[in-house]
Formats: sequence, C-alpha cells, structure tokens
Amino acid sequence: MAGCPLKDKITRDVTAAVGAVPGVTSVDLSLGVMTDEQRSGLQQTLRGGKAAKEIPFAQPGSLTKVIAVASGKGGVGKSSVTVNLAQAMAATGLKVGVVDADIYGHSVPAMLGVADTRPMQVEDMIMPVPTSSGVSVISIGMLKPRRDQVVAWRGPMLDRALVQMLADVYWGDLDVLLLDLPPGTGDVAISLGQHLPNAEVLVVTTPQDAASEVAERAGTMASMMHQRVIGVIENMSYLACPHCAQGTEAGGPEHRIEIFGSGGGAQVARTLSERFGYDVPLLGEIPLEATLREGGDAGKPIVDSDPSAPAARELARIAGTLMGRGRGLAGLQLGLTPASRF
Ligand SMILES: Nc1ncnc2c1ncn2[C@@H]1O[C@H](COP(=O)(O)OP(=O)(O)OP(=O)(O)O)[C@@H](O)[C@H]1O
Ligand SMILES: [Mg+2]
Ligand SMILES: [Zn+2]
Repeated sequence: MAGCPLKDKITRDVTAAVGAVPGVTSVDLSLGVMTDEQRSGLQQTLRGGKAAKEIPFAQPGSLTKVIAVASGKGGVGKSSVTVNLAQAMAATGLKVGVVDADIYGHSVPAMLGVADTRPMQVEDMIMPVPTSSGVSVISIGMLKPRRDQVVAWRGPMLDRALVQMLADVYWGDLDVLLLDLPPGTGDVAISLGQHLPNAEVLVVTTPQDAASEVAERAGTMASMMHQRVIGVIENMSYLACPHCAQGTEAGGPEHRIEIFGSGGGAQVARTLSERFGYDVPLLGEIPLEATLREGGDAGKPIVDSDPSAPAARELARIAGTLMGRGRGLAGLQLGLTPASRF
C-alpha cells in the first residue's frame, strides 16, 4: 500500500466524498490491503454478475466507440497519433481507454508515461494502468512476465492476448476505446475483426506514394473484416520552414517543406472511398514537429505538453471531429484547409 501511486488521490477523493455527507464532521482514513474474500467480492461487483471472458465492447448495447488505428507499414506515427488522440479526447472529459495491441512495438505505455507501471490484478481480472491525465492503458507488453522477454507471438497466442486485453481487463464505462494495431494486415487485424466487428478503423499514412499503397491495403483488410474505415490521417505531411516563420507570424502563407512528398493521405482517402462506395475522408494532415517526438520520448503527448504547436492543434482538431460525429460523416464539415504549395 505504501507504494501505491494513487494513495494520495484515494485519500483526497474519499475524504472529500465522505466529508460532504451531512453530519460528518471529520474524516480519518487508513488504507490497507484487501483480504482474499474482499477481492473476490470486488471482482463479483465489478463484473456485475456477468460471466467472465465476455468482451463488453462487442455487446449489442455497448455505448463505447471503438476505434482501431491501423497503418500499412511501420514507423508512420501510428502510436503517436493514438496516444495524442486519446489524450485530446480525455482532456474534453471523455473516459478513454487505450489498448496497445502492437506486439513488436508496444511503445504506447512509454509515450503516455507509464512504461514502468504494471497493471494491478484483482483475482483473474486486470486493472488498466491509469495515466496522470486519466487515460486507461493496457499494453500487450504488460501481459508478458518480463518486459525484455522475447516471445515469438503467433496467431493463436496473439488472439488470446487480444481477447485478454478486451475481456479480462476491467475497463469500466468507456466513451472511447482506441487500439494501436501492429503495422500491416496480419493476425491481429484478423483477430480484431472476429472479436470486435463493430470497431471502426482509422488509417495512418505518410505522404509518399509507396506508403499510401500499403496503407490502402490495410484499409481494404479492415473492410474485408466488415469494419468501417472512418478516415485517413496523413502524418509527417510537411515541415514548417523555420526561415519563413516570420512570414507566418505576419499572417503570410506558410512555407511547407514536403520532406516525404505530398498527396499520400488524399490518395488513400480517394482510393478507399471509391473501393468501398462510401466516403472515407482525409481527416487531417499532421506536420513534422520536434516537440511531438520529444513529447513521445518523455511520456507527455504533444497535445498536452505543447498544445499551441500546429501538430498538436491538428491532432486535437481531429479528435474533436471523431467525437463530434455520429456513426456517419455525411454532411460534416471537416474544416480542412488545402496545403499551400511552393
Ligand atoms: N509528426 C511527427 N513529427 C515528428 N516526429 C514524429 C511525428 N510522428 C511520429 N514521429 C516520431 O517518429 C517515430 C515513429 O513514430 P511512432 O512510434 O508513433 O510510429 P508507429 O507507426 O507507431 O511505429 P511502429 O510501426 O514502430 O509502431 C517516433 O519517434 C515519433 O516520435
Ligand atoms: Mg507503434
Ligand atoms: Zn522557407
């Protein structure tokens, strides 16, 4: 109990809540460890009498929006996008959970500043790790006995791990569950399609032609699993020219250096729209930004650590677009401004 990271918060919250009860004049709180009996009692209560191994998000009445973040290839910024969207959504008061389903990467906990925290277990139920801003996180890496352990994850094992993260973890009532998928169109995508067919898919790509082609494949895969692709996010779209910063401040057009080429995101959005026969919009273009990388390394997402940076504003705007809509995007103003080309 002495090492409990939430000790102060629990003491504060309980004191405030109990102190507010009429007739209570003072609160004296001492914390201890649950007995076995109390633990199984708590587990019963949390499950609400339901059987174990049920994925709450796959139930017909579930109100949680499930968004899987996919990409064709690695390193395009999928995890960065996932943690920043989660953080931006949580900042608006939503209850947000993040599942890091990238077996090879599992960088999400580090990007959210909880790399060294292990999930707490109540009997065979796992508590997600809370970040300081209230996002709940579970990583496939946290389920391994040791962090440096190398495991050859194959289909059935991956499937079991994914189900465990969805069914054995006590998520509570979430508004949004974001899943960071491994890159490509592999086993995890198939498992996810089977266990969470109602998940919506966001495709992240960079502007290059080659990247957009593989991103299209990831989108097609999602559709084959009967999941709706809700949009495309282009990351690393441009670098705001540092020499022209003056011009921008004076209200002049920004000079965008297109390090990875241009047009990939729009291309993926167009191709998928044509292929599926419904609108797959380009939701945004996130510029390259040193503080985005630094925020990821430091465990502080840029939407929180440097909110006025253009990349942070774009990520927050995309989060707002995703949450502000219903099940379809028809008639929605996305507020995209075309990139100026020099
Ligand atoms: N817009 C950006 N500006 C600057 N750095 C970025 C940007 N997007 C991502 N990065 C950096 O690029 C690296 C790769 O990003 P990230 O880990 O989010 O990609 P990924 O698609 O999840 O990769 P992987 O396939 O390895 O899981 C990270 O160091 C991240 O901080
Ligand atoms: Mg990643
Ligand atoms: Zn310039």
